[in-house]
Amino acid sequence: MNNKPLTEDRKKMLAMEFCGMRFTTPLVLLSGCVGFGEEYTRVKGFTNRDAGALCLKGTTLKARLGNPPHRVWETPMGMLNAIGLQNPGAHHVVDKILSQLDFDETRFIANVSGSTIEEYVEVTRLFDDSPIDAIEINISCPNVKEGGVQFGNDPDMSARVVEACRAATGKPLITKLSPNQTDIADNARRCIEAGSDAFAVINTLMGMAIDSEQRTPVIGNNQGGLSGPAIKPVALLMVHKVHQVCKAHDIPIIGQGGIASTEDALEFFIAGASAVGIGTALFYDPLICSKINAGIIDYLERHRMSEITQLTGTLALNENYPGNCI
Ligand SMILES: Cc1cc2nc3c(=O)[nH]c(=O)nc-3n(C[C@H](O)[C@H](O)[C@H](O)COP(=O)(O)O)c2cc1C
Repeated sequence: MNNKPLTEDRKKMLAMEFCGMRFTTPLVLLSGCVGFGEEYTRVKGFTNRDAGALCLKGTTLKARLGNPPHRVWETPMGMLNAIGLQNPGAHHVVDKILSQLDFDETRFIANVSGSTIEEYVEVTRLFDDSPIDAIEINISCPNVKEGGVQFGNDPDMSARVVEACRAATGKPLITKLSPNQTDIADNARRCIEAGSDAFAVINTLMGMAIDSEQRTPVIGNNQGGLSGPAIKPVALLMVHKVHQVCKAHDIPIIGQGGIASTEDALEFFIAGASAVGIGTALFYDPLICSKINAGIIDYLERHRMSEITQLTGTLALNENYPGNCI
């Protein structure tokens, strides 16, 4: 990477539009990894301004205490989590937390969860009537007993949730797709028909860790969601597949799953992402966004591109190989 200073002019190359919102950079801080926007602000050098948007922690209608410990567990090149959607409830978030956020810093996206379609709709409606910039519906949470992933793994159910939330908000609606399903592209197609404006691809993959001495699962919830670099190859393929459906409709994707460097981020743009999410990587490097921003600018300059949108979906597949046989 070159050592040119990161001037305001060079930073402008990162600016982009996402569902009508202006992102100053294509990086998005991911839900569950940054609390309600305050999580890293005590870390010297960290600023939410290094990201184009920040997704708040998953929010349900009523407050939830979450799952018993262990809730997180480090695994090779990744981590398992089963937080269980701990949150103070939608009314508290809308009435008490949103007023504390500085909307000059970045765009704020709510992350909506529920056990029933009615709950998704009610939480969406509460956020619709708030200053929040956009709404992400999490139909892919693997860590709760009811709802979550059950909605996300069945295209019919996914479409019903999207359709119902669509009717409840005029704000940009992002559907967070589950990797724990047979045909993510078909699910995306159904969600577009139901009114989704954008996708987040992917949420965590279901996994387990076992204590061999006790012969018990390590995670209190028995199973958890795997994130971090271990899931990157799966996430890249899924972004590529969803992009094949989205490109005809001009529907953007926030690619995510294991991004921990500029190179990782670039691969996601090439696979079809318009923006990229940073989650688990923040746990070991809270200042990673400024480094990735600088790396993306450097790449664009070296490849004579003026903006990041020029990179989206530029993957050149090897010809004559369908790619589905091993
Ligand atoms: C501790 C933790 C909590 C999470 N909580 C949520 C959540 O509340 N809602 C949601 O949609 N995704 C949640 N996720 C998933 C992340 O937003 C992200 O989609 C996933 O971790 C993949 O990205 P990564 O590998 O960069 O972390 C959580 C992930 C982690 C690690």
